This record gives sequence, structure tokens and C-alpha cells, in this order.
Amino acid sequence: MTIVVAHRGASAEAPENTMAAFRLGVEAGADAIELDVHLTADCQLAVVHDETLDRTTDRTGSIASLTMDEIRGADAGARFARPGDAGLPFAGKGHHVPTLLEVLAWLPEAVGLVVEIKARAAADAVVAAVRTHPVRTSGRLVIIGFDEVAIERVRELDPDLRTGYLLVPGQAIGPALTWATEGGHIGVLPWEGDLGPDPIPLLAQAAALGRELGCYVVNDPARMRLLAACGLWGFVTDVPDVAREALGP
Ligand code: G3P
Ligand code: CA
Repeated sequence: MTIVVAHRGASAEAPENTMAAFRLGVEAGADAIELDVHLTADCQLAVVHDETLDRTTDRTGSIASLTMDEIRGADAGARFARPGDAGLPFAGKGHHVPTLLEVLAWLPEAVGLVVEIKARAAADAVVAAVRTHPVRTSGRLVIIGFDEVAIERVRELDPDLRTGYLLVPGQAIGPALTWATEGGHIGVLPWEGDLGPDPIPLLAQAAALGRELGCYVVNDPARMRLLAACGLWGFVTDVPDVAREALGP
């Protein structure tokens, strides 16, 4: 079964990487939640995509130079609107940048978690954060990153953690599958366009190496159905409700 992963939560419906988006993702029937982590100045894991607060909140500044208390003071709903919204309906409603620990404390038992390490410096703290959490041994946790050093560090610290290698658009998938196999990473996640119109040869290559092949970000239901029919491991989507409807329960 192809897994549906809510990208930064249900990020088409609520501000990305907020508890509201994660809750909506689960309500929509996502199999797992994807989120991004950076390390703060006081060595906490902030769940936020960019290196700075600028794009997604009402404050500015780099995550690495701010404490978690300072980051928590930012309004993570300040800039988000859905098409058709009048104004900014999430602004001033108490949405904040969560910590990874906060998400782990909330995560429902049956829901998976995909943690993307955005800053290499966060790798050690991610391993420590999940060490005693039940999701670690559930088979539903994957730590992913574009940065090879970050995911190698995760496996060095805890070889039982499942890691996935994210590929930038245009990056060759074949050599990445070989690299992931040699490094013990469970799978490779290219940009979905790089799978092409017929992903079956790449899926066969992944299967021959014993690797999973997923992708990001798929929002078109026809494409979701095709990828699922081909046996893709899973995809990340901004619209998990659309995905659930396209793929079924
Ligand atoms: O899950 C992979 C995807 O999230 C990578 O891209 O920029 O959304 O973190 P980005
Ligand atoms: Ca991400």
C-alpha cells in the first residue's frame, strides 16, 4: 500500500509545520506526517522549514540565532491564507512554531512520522529526541534529508533508525539508489517529476536493491493513482484529503 504523507501537515489547509496542520493531516487520513527541523540557539528542535522566521511568521531572524522561547513568540499563522480566504484567518489565533518534542508528545499511535533534517547540526538532537519514543520502533518513523552527511550521522548514532535520502530536482535516481543501499538508508525520495511518466523501471531497480522509492510533492489525484498503481512506497502531499479520496481508505 502506498503511504500518504502530509507535507508539513495538511499544508494547503493550515499554516505549514503547525500543530493545526498536523492535526488536519491526521483527520484527513494521512498515514504519516512530514515536518522539517532546525536547531535553535539553545539547542532545541524547531519545526520550521526555512532557516529564518521571515516567510512563515510575523517575525524575522535566523532559527540558529534565536532561542526556542523567542521563536515560540512568533505567530506562525500570520502569513497563511487559502485561495479564496478573505484576509489572514489564522493570524493572531495562537499558532506557533512547535518543537519536535511537542509533536512527538501529540503523535497518535497509528500515525507515522517523517522528520526532515534541514540543518546538519540538528542530526544529533533528532536522534536523541526520538530515542525512547514508541514511533522509533513502530516501523513508522523515517528520518530524511537532502544532506548526505546529516542522514549518515543519524545512522552512525543509531543504526536502527530508518533513514531516507531526498534528491534535489534533476538528481539522477539510479546512483542515489546505489548510494543509499551502500549506506543502509531504507529509501530514496526524488522530486516526483523525476519519476517520469512510467516509474516502473525505477521501482524495479529500487526493489532489486531492496530499497524503497517514494517522492515529493504530489497534489494531482490522477498522478497519485498512477504512482500507487505502480507500487510506489509513498508520496508527500499538501492535500492528504485529496490523496485519501484518490487512493481509498
Ligand atoms: O518530503 C520532502 C520535501 O518536504 C522536501 O522539500 O522543501 O518541502 O522540505 P521541502
Ligand atoms: Ca520537508
